[in-house]
Amino acid sequence: MQVSDSSSRILAGLLEARTGQQLTMNRRWRIETALASLLRERGIPTLDELITILVMGKEPGLSNQVVEALLNNETYFFRDRTPFDLLSRHALPVLAKKREATKRIRIWSAGCSTGQEAYSLAMLFAENQADWQGWTIDILGTDVSNAVIDRARAGSYTQFEVQRGLAIGQTIKYFEEAGDGWRAVEQLRRPVRFQVHNVLEQPPHPGAFDIVLCRNVLLYLNADKRELAFERLASSLAEDGWLMLGAGETVIGQTTRLAADKNARGLYRLTSEEERRDRRTGERRAARG
Ligand SMILES: C[S@@+](CC[C@H](N)C(=O)[O-])C[C@H]1O[C@@H](n2cnc3c(N)ncnc32)[C@H](O)[C@@H]1O
Repeated sequence: MQVSDSSSRILAGLLEARTGQQLTMNRRWRIETALASLLRERGIPTLDELITILVMGKEPGLSNQVVEALLNNETYFFRDRTPFDLLSRHALPVLAKKREATKRIRIWSAGCSTGQEAYSLAMLFAENQADWQGWTIDILGTDVSNAVIDRARAGSYTQFEVQRGLAIGQTIKYFEEAGDGWRAVEQLRRPVRFQVHNVLEQPPHPGAFDIVLCRNVLLYLNADKRELAFERLASSLAEDGWLMLGAGETVIGQTTRLAADKNARGLYRLTSEEERRDRRTGERRAARG
């Protein structure tokens, strides 16, 4: 199937307008593969025909399906492993002390895709169940795509999906066989909720989250949108909360609201007004030379 320049421009524009995600020229090859099954299901012969239907606005749900098909939803349980070790060895023990009075911990997995990240977090608590007796643990998973949130809520995964990241012992302990695949058990599902949300919009619970994970979501946003996303994520954090990004992602040079936590490599904390003022003064001095 041939993708004309104008078709790929229109589709990339639609994706960026709805989600902030840029489909740069060198990634436009994805369009054809990403939309092939949607075209087949809908009986639409070519991408140009799809554009015509979209432009005529005759099928209102179609543009959502197109955007969702173009999003990259790659994820797996305990992705990159080290961040989860950092959470269980450092962040959660620190929070266990700090939140002793309220016995409540709130975590947000922003851009959670099909939910593996949120259920991996739930497993960290389940692994040390005795330590968290009497605590309220809230894990919120959000994503801009309805389709992946439906799948996350179902908590059902194929054999291939559980094998990616889970040991056999974990699969048997936290999942039950369901048809050809596996469904997360009640203990894992209880602390986890999912909702559709765009990370560029107001956060679901401003100032409430102790930990926010936003991993592998902001890579393809332009600088302005990324700054806006960091602004939103920062405003979702409790005063002493942490943000965690994906491997190779950073806040450095992207926002003044967050800075690396010197005590925990891989976690970002909110900056104070004073730090932000000092940084702005430094930047002005550097600009003057
Ligand atoms: C590559 S997946 C990463 C999933 C998971 N965080 C991980 O690291 O395994 C990126 C997810 O971000 C979602 N996403 C993209 N743009 C978004 C936006 N503006 N708001 C919320 N979610 C977004 C996509 O739908 C996709 O499910």
